[in-house]
Parts: sequence; C-alpha cells; structure tokens
Amino acid sequence: MKRRNTSKPDETKVTTGKTNVANSKSKQRKEKKAHGLATKNQLYSGVRNKIILIVGLYILAGAGFLYWHGMGKSPELPPEVEEEILGSLPQDMKDMDLPNVGPFRKKASNTLLPDNKVKQTESSKGKKSNKTGNHAPVVPETTLEETKFPNFEQKIQNELKVKNIGDKTWTEVKIRKNVNNTNVRIYTMDDFLSSRECEGLMKAHDNHMKQHDDQGPIICFSDETTMGKYLEQIKEKWTKRISSQDWTQGTRCLNASVSAQLNGKLRWSHSTSFYPGESPFSTTFETRVAEQTGLNANNGGKFQITCYPEGVGYKLHTDCTEGNTDKRDRFATILVYLNDVIEGGQTQFTELGVSITPKKGKALVWTNMDSEGHCDVTSYHQASPVIKGRKCILQRWYYYENFPALGKRYPSPPLPVRSPTTPRVACDEFTSGSCRWYDEWNYDHLIDYDARSL
Ligand SMILES: *[C@@H]1O[C@H](CO)[C@@H](O)[C@H](O)[C@H]1NC(C)=O
Ligand SMILES: *[C@@H]1O[C@H](CO)[C@@H](O)[C@H](O)[C@H]1NC(C)=O
Ligand SMILES: *[C@@H]1O[C@H](CO)[C@@H](O)[C@H](O)[C@H]1NC(C)=O
Repeated sequence: MKRRNTSKPDETKVTTGKTNVANSKSKQRKEKKAHGLATKNQLYSGVRNKIILIVGLYILAGAGFLYWHGMGKSPELPPEVEEEILGSLPQDMKDMDLPNVGPFRKKASNTLLPDNKVKQTESSKGKKSNKTGNHAPVVPETTLEETKFPNFEQKIQNELKVKNIGDKTWTEVKIRKNVNNTNVRIYTMDDFLSSRECEGLMKAHDNHMKQHDDQGPIICFSDETTMGKYLEQIKEKWTKRISSQDWTQGTRCLNASVSAQLNGKLRWSHSTSFYPGESPFSTTFETRVAEQTGLNANNGGKFQITCYPEGVGYKLHTDCTEGNTDKRDRFATILVYLNDVIEGGQTQFTELGVSITPKKGKALVWTNMDSEGHCDVTSYHQASPVIKGRKCILQRWYYYENFPALGKRYPSPPLPVRSPTTPRVACDEFTSGSCRWYDEWNYDHLIDYDARSL
C-alpha cells in the first residue's frame, strides 16, 4: 500500500480526524482530536460562555431561518417536488437536540479553570502572530442548560444488506484488481432517486448557494504551508505577502476582503447540508435507504449535496479514519448522482480497479469498514475532476457506532465574525487535496480548538 494523505470529504465532529499516513505526528494529533471530543476537559472560562452561547444561538437561529428561507425559495420548482423536498420549516431551535460532545460538552461548573489549564491556553495563543490584536480570541465551550437526547438508542451498523424492491435492483460491482483481502462491497442501483427528486435537490442547492454567496466565502486553510502553496499557484505579487500573520484572529482564515480577492482564483466544490427531520425529503430518503440497503437511519449523519464545477474533483481518501480505533466512524457511504456529467467526474476506487460513471438518479453504496469496525484501506476512492459539465451528488454517511450528536445540526463557532450567511471554504493538502465550499461552519479552522486537542 502506498503512503498517501487522506482526509474525509467532510467534517462531522466526532470524525474530524484527517489521517495523514506520511505524517504520524499529524495523525496522532488528529486522532487525539477525534478521541478528545469525548474526553477533553474544558480549557476556557465559563464567564464569557453564556454571552457567547446567546450570540451563537442567535446567529444559528438567524442562519437557520435564512437557510430554510433560501431552501424554500425556488419559484421554478414543480410544486410537488417543492413540497416533498423543501416543504418543512426548520425545527424550533429550542427543541433541537444539542450535542454534548467536543466544544459543546456541558460544563461541570462555571468556575474558572485551574492555573495550569489557563497557562496551556496562553501558550497555545503565544504561537499566534503579534499582529492579530489585543483581545484574546475566545473559543467558546458552550454551556448548555440541559442537553437531552430523547430516544437515543445505541446502535451498531456492521453490515450492508441490499434488497431489491420491485423492478429496482442492486448490482454488485465487480472488483477488478487482485486484492488479497478487502471487505469493501460496492453496489449500484439506477433510478434510486427520481428525476424530479434529483432536480429538486439541485435546485434547492443552487438557490441556497446563491443565498449564501452574496459576499463570497471566507477562505480557511489547514495550515500555513498549505496556504502558501495555494497562494503560490496564483501568480500575483500581492499573494506573496500573505502569511499566517494575516489570519483572522484565532483562526486559520483570511479576512473577508482578502478572501474576496481570492474568489475566482481558487476553485472549489460547493456543499449544502441538511439534517434529519429538517425536510420531509430527509425522511423519504432515509426510509428508502433503510429498506433497500439495511442501513439504519439512526446511524446516518447529515445529508450533503455537493456540486463540482469543471476542473474540480476530490482527492483520493477514505471515508473512515485509517487506523482509528474509534468506531464512531463511517461504516458505509451512500452517494446518489443527481445529474449526468458530460465528461469526467467518475467515482474511482483505485485499490479495487473500480470506476463508476455518474448517471442521474443512480445510487452507489459501499462499505468502508470491516464487520469489526476497522477502517478498510482498500476503500480508497476519489472523485475524478469533471472535464466537461457539472456534477452534483447527494451523500450520506452511515456510522458503525452511532452517538447522540450524530445527525444533529451544530451551533456555529463565533469566529471569524461574519454574517449568518457567510459560507466557508476549507482548503487542505495542496498536492493531493482540495478546496471545498460549505454552507455551514465547523470548528476545524479555530486555532485554539486544534490546540486544545494537542
Ligand atoms: C511579539 O512581540 C513581542 C514584542 O514586540 C516580541 O518580543 C515577541 O517575540 C513577539 N512574538 C511573536 C510570536 O512574534
Ligand atoms: C497478496 O498476497 C501475495 C502472496 O502472499 C503477495 O505476494 C502479494 O504481495 C499480496 N498483495 C497485496 C496487494 O498485498
Ligand atoms: C484584511 O487583511 C489584509 C491583509 O492582512 C489587511 O491588509 C486588511 O486591512 C484586512 N481588512 C480588514 C477589513 O480587516
């Protein structure tokens, strides 16, 4: 097996870990991060937390409203599709199940942290540039009055059992390379989603994207070296002067004006996320998946629509975290192509010699882990760049072991300060990596969040 950089196509809190095979330190760090979510103590003062929580919830509520406002606004959408896919209002934020992991872990008390913890925090801050100002950035450890997960039931998903219903049949994809040992099984089904469903989802994504792209995204990098490499690619003098000194305080993001100048110069895919219960379509989809693949709705995370423009793909990666012992990891993936791509955009499993050509409505489902919950490295796959046309997909990841926060919408971090609709672009691993536009923010760009996991 060749050594490669991997990272997951998206960041769900418990599996933010990006395994860098060539860099065990990074790997350890990220692994610790994954585990840290469940085990880390608080590092931040509780005094500010209430304020931040209120502000955070306010931003979140605003974002939620605008999100659904955007999703619901699709004048050209056939009404039945609109009703099916976009019809519901967001859950009332007050009733929402908020997660109790990672940065949202409930505090035992509101007292200040012991000195050693404070020191740790300060030393991590010391690494930052002097230019970034006087106010220490605060990464909130939000205090939740009450965090409840009604009806949560621990579930293990260690098998994929496809089932044909009516004239819709699954085809097992033949593995073409000689691999001694693979647990990966890949199936496809044509017309898993109807044409109207595909179009409705794409339309919802496009409208949503427009709603979020008024001011352009804020661009964040996994580290300074990565940023340097991306900027080097842009042959303009002003980009040479940008360094981590220019990161927005506490983050690995450039400010809105610099990000805007890079807009159009860096390329990326766009992703819209929605969560179980936020749309009738989420229920339609997860029920269909459960009936036809045996994948349990409770083990599913968020739903993600991703569109790739010409020239953009997604690097070779595994959906699970290589070598990770945490079984709250992606056991299986379902991906549905929402359109036909004129050229390129295949899903390629390089270790298995498998290449799947996008086709509107076609589903691709595969396993990433063995039945004991180990990540199978033969599941390496990539989205080859679109050569001509555009490629849109809907994806959902199903986890081996579910956890209460799975599939729940997270409150957004308060940094960088931004409007509720400002999207985020995450760029990582220049040589084999990519930049990706997201409609929602997670915590990966926060320096202190990362430092906390060290
Ligand atoms: C920050 O500034 C102080 C004084 O100007 C200097 O001594 C220190 O080395 C600087 N730290 C960094 C990380 O640049
Ligand atoms: C498969 O097994 C054979 C015989 O044990 C070995 O020579 C070969 O290197 C293995 N291939 C891989 C891809 O591990
Ligand atoms: C954004 O960052 C650039 C580069 O550091 C800086 O020149 C500019 O003043 C910043 N703009 C704002 C609005 O902070």
